[in-house]
Order: sequence, then C-alpha cells, then structure tokens
Amino acid sequence: MEPITIRRAKTSDVKSIRELVKPLAEERVLLEKEAVAYYENLQEFFIADDADGNVIGCGGLHVMWEDIAEVRTLASNEAWRGRGVGRLLLQRLLQEARELGVSRVFCLTFEVDFFIRNGFTVMAEQSAVDPEVYSELLRSTDEGVAEFLDLARVKPNTLGNTRMIAHL
Ligand SMILES: CC(C)(COP(=O)(O)OP(=O)(O)OC[C@H]1O[C@@H](n2cnc3c(N)ncnc32)[C@H](O)[C@@H]1OP(=O)(O)O)[C@@H](O)C(=O)NCCC(=O)NCCS
Repeated sequence: MEPITIRRAKTSDVKSIRELVKPLAEERVLLEKEAVAYYENLQEFFIADDADGNVIGCGGLHVMWEDIAEVRTLASNEAWRGRGVGRLLLQRLLQEARELGVSRVFCLTFEVDFFIRNGFTVMAEQSAVDPEVYSELLRSTDEGVAEFLDLARVKPNTLGNTRMIAHL
C-alpha cells in the first residue's frame, strides 16, 4: 500500500483545498466557499499527503451542536480515488468527532456506498435534531448548516443528495 499521511491543515493548504473542491463544485457535488471561509474554518480541516508531500485529499468536520457534527468537503484527488485516501481522512474526522465529544456525525452526499462502508446509514428521518435545536440552528449563517436544515435558498445544492449519519 502506498504511504498516505493524514495531518491537520495549515494555512498554506487552502490553495490545494480549493483546487480539490473546484471541479466537484462545478459538478454540484460539493459546496464551494469563498477563500476567506476556508481560512476561517481551517482548524476543521485535515489533509492527506502522498509520500512526496503533495496534497491528495482533504476533509473537514464542522461541529453543529452539542452532540452532532458534519463531515464536509471530503475529497480525494481523482488520480488517487479507490486507494484509501477517503477512508483514511474519514476515519481521522470520526476520531476528531469523538475527541470533541460529539456522538453523531452527519453528511450530505452522493457517495452513499462509500459512507455505508465506513459506518454511516441513510437517515430515515429528515431531521437529526429535535425541534428546539432545529430552531437554534436556523440562526446559523453557515451555508452547510442551511443545507443540513434544507432551507429553500440553498435547495439547488441539495437536490439528489442523500442525508447520512454515523453514531459514534
Ligand atoms: C468520496 C471520496 C472522498 C472517496 O474517496 P476515495 O479516496 O476514493 O476513497 P477510498 O479509496 O477510501 O474508498 C473508495 C473505494 O476504494 C476502495 N479502497 C479503499 N482502500 C483501498 C486500497 N488501499 N486499495 C484499493 N482500493 C481501496 C474502497 O473499498 C472503496 O471501494 P469502491 O471502489 O467500491 O468505492 C471521493 O470519491 C470523492 O472525492 N468524491 C467527491 C466528493 C464527495 O462526494 N465527497 C463526499 C461528501 S462531503
């Protein structure tokens, strides 16, 4: 197996994260954000490097409430797909969730089989949070949270996506 290193993101990785996201955002698979959003949320991100230190994947864990976080912007370089980059990143994000005290991890994805193989299930219920928390989350200005809540203004980005959840 080729050596893949998973590490926390640095500010100098934002360019690489944006390069990974760009083609996927064009296909409407991922939500593209302004550069400033990646810097502001940098501590959420982990990076996969190949043996030469080239960035080959990224992924973020966004805490939404006391017991729930979202896996977001999980992407591997196309040339590396199917070689374990996504799985390693996701395992690191789930470890991070445990360390932060989160008990459930949500994701909105087209990659249903990948997430099932990694311990997620398709959500039967549309909402993973109780009505009280839902109303608190409505106050968030974050686009990903809006997607989670399925607000009308971000509806086009969520079409066809599947809501999935893992219990830690
Ligand atoms: C989802 C995504 C991150 C998965 O990344 P990946 O690097 O291909 O993931 P993995 O390699 O860990 O797993 C994918 C497949 O490779 C297999 N695999 C895992 N490790 C492997 C290894 N060492 N050697 C060969 N195959 C391997 C897995 O079993 C899996 O099987 P599949 O071919 O039936 O799907 C990637 O497809 C992607 O970037 N998608 C677009 C963005 C997206 O939708 N993100 C999710 C929402 S945030």
